[in-house]
Amino acid sequence: MNLTLQLKESDRPKIIPAAQYGHFAEHLGRCIYDGIWADESTDAPTVEGYRKDVLEALQALQIPVLRWPGGCFADCYHWRDGIGDPAKRPKTINTVWGWAPESNRFGTHEFFRLCELLGCAPYLAGNMGSGTIRELAKWVEYVTSDKDTAITEERRQNGRHEPWKLPYLGIGNEAWGGGGQMRVEYYAHQYRQWQGFAKSYDFSTPMWKIACGPNANDYAWTEHMMQAVDPWMMQGLALHYYTVPSGRWEKKGDSLMFTDAEYLQTLQKAYFMEELLTKHSEIMDRYDPERQVALIVDEWGSWYDVMEGTKDAFLYQQNTMRDAMLAALTLHIFHRHTERVKMANLAQTVNVLQALILTEGNRMLCTPTYHVFAMMQGHQDAALLELDGEMPMQDGLPAVSVIASQKDGSTLISLCNPHLQEQMLSLQLPESLRNIRCSGKILTGDCRAHNTFEQPDQVVPQPYAVPQPQDGVLTLTLPACSLVTLQG
Ligand code: AHR
Repeated sequence: MNLTLQLKESDRPKIIPAAQYGHFAEHLGRCIYDGIWADESTDAPTVEGYRKDVLEALQALQIPVLRWPGGCFADCYHWRDGIGDPAKRPKTINTVWGWAPESNRFGTHEFFRLCELLGCAPYLAGNMGSGTIRELAKWVEYVTSDKDTAITEERRQNGRHEPWKLPYLGIGNEAWGGGGQMRVEYYAHQYRQWQGFAKSYDFSTPMWKIACGPNANDYAWTEHMMQAVDPWMMQGLALHYYTVPSGRWEKKGDSLMFTDAEYLQTLQKAYFMEELLTKHSEIMDRYDPERQVALIVDEWGSWYDVMEGTKDAFLYQQNTMRDAMLAALTLHIFHRHTERVKMANLAQTVNVLQALILTEGNRMLCTPTYHVFAMMQGHQDAALLELDGEMPMQDGLPAVSVIASQKDGSTLISLCNPHLQEQMLSLQLPESLRNIRCSGKILTGDCRAHNTFEQPDQVVPQPYAVPQPQDGVLTLTLPACSLVTLQG
């Protein structure tokens, strides 16, 4: 297809929130133990107990925020089990994910230290399902207080003198499902009460309280929450949406073996995010025209059948160029909804669902999804350039999806061609960029291409030769199934 698109500067550019590049790490399968935290099953080098290879790969991504400890696990997690002398921490069972033994070796201190090492904001998911208001209030106090109290003293005894910063607190996870099977009317009442007691002791750091939001297109949930909870009580409402290729949880589809038709279907399902954000935002706009309440896409990504030979409840799947396209298209959607979507967290960081990183013994690989986040990280906190006119669509997807942004005097343009044919694009640049010189990178391959522990660099970004603009127009060939980034 030959396409023409035009980029334009705006007088009041919107800033892409860095937190749209957020991540989620749950006590699930091998995400924490054997993924982020080195357990006994590996002799991989460590830094303070974290896997060095994983830590360094995550550091390179400059991730803005990390959500922990769940997901569903959050609703059976009792934070006191995970503090104090590791040898004395109680052994418990992860009753949500495969009845796996939980050593509690990774707890509050290990999570906050991880966030320090990654330079990211911590986001705690509080337990409303099986916990109490007091338990949550005490967790927030333990984390944020510098007052002279017993709980602060306990934290100090456990090795942390200064309180931590806690910018985000979730109150309930999927309350409409595993988080309590609540009806929205009941949850809204509960939320109003709980949020009042989850008090940060750190008055210099605003703590966003994030309420459980809708499951995908449950618009009635959003409507009721917006009606029943005042904006000052919730700074965020959390939407969860996963891409399941077949649409059937019993047989979702394979992460590696799929037809071209299934490839397209998967991306169309992922692109449903556009409609979800539009419709939930419309509802929120009616109750909150000043946009005080953010829409937080707390969990998103692909969800396939688990890899053969791995445990069902561990949600381990491979990751191909299909996932790279899904990630790039979805991040682009978030950027176009920047006014309402202030955070989004990919599920999940390591070894679970649409992972950035996979590990096996002491080996590690970065997935195609990882490379998308790496190539596009320059959009974080950057000012959006707008497209003049509508993006042309093809097969229910943008013919080419384009996002351009500017930060610190430099421009980043990301172009995603999710189709299985190459596209020719004439990109008309705004006046100030008409002679821009760009370096380029490309991530491309067969839609089933992926990295393995034997060949971890099958799918990695490669240099992309960028032509000089002619009369302010960049003429680009975008190969099938590709993400191209131009930096100038
Ligand atoms: O990410 C896996 C699970 O998906 C989370 O625990 C839960 O919140 C969602 O259903």
